[in-house]
Amino acid sequence: MKGYFISLEGPDGAGKSTVLKEVLAKLGPKLKTQYLVTREPGGSKIAEKIRQIILDPNNEEMNDRTEALLYAAARSQHVEEIIKPALSSGKVVFSDRFVDSSLAYQGAGRNLGIDEIKQINNFATGGLEPNLTLLFDLAPEVGLSRIQKLRPDQEDRLEQEKIEFHEKVYNGYQEILKKYSERIVKIDASQNFDQVVNQVVSVLQDRLKDFL
Ligand code: TYD
Repeated sequence: MKGYFISLEGPDGAGKSTVLKEVLAKLGPKLKTQYLVTREPGGSKIAEKIRQIILDPNNEEMNDRTEALLYAAARSQHVEEIIKPALSSGKVVFSDRFVDSSLAYQGAGRNLGIDEIKQINNFATGGLEPNLTLLFDLAPEVGLSRIQKLRPDQEDRLEQEKIEFHEKVYNGYQEILKKYSERIVKIDASQNFDQVVNQVVSVLQDRLKDFL
């Protein structure tokens, strides 16, 4: 495909979406092609409806496999309806979370197995992989305490999980980083905001040479 696909990953509260906004304010005007920003779970009408089911704190009885399949179902719709057409038309696509979130949260966090979750996601996406993944690396305690400060009454079902769950997610990300080291670049999200923005800008200036 002609475009370039970038996913952003990391624990809750790592600051991905805020950093991306600032990065695009700096880099966006320099891009030769159009770009698209999207997010998961969600990014299309049907996928956003599935998102509401997954993240609703009232859905306490949801079992782990249902959760994994719903994320994959939302992703499938998002890929076919939004991501693939954008890439085919040559756009640079930024997705706030993609398959690695499922590997870390459902594979490692829910103990369903990284390889098993990879398989159902290959089915869902038809094997589409990002060209580049930015992994916002931040200790889970730090991320969660940021969320509690920023929006104390609005935690979603996943954010409400115990710290042990978030530790497993964090370790899952480290495993995924080792496994796919050629695709994933680690961003030190414990730095101050401007430093994180600058690190991301410099990685993108290098990787997006053909688009700048
Ligand atoms: P969201 O509010 O988008 O979180 P963030 O702003 O941190 O990206 O909610 C997404 C939540 O869903 C987040 O806790 C991570 C989780 N998640 C999974 O468990 N598996 C997945 O495949 C995806 C995409 C997200």
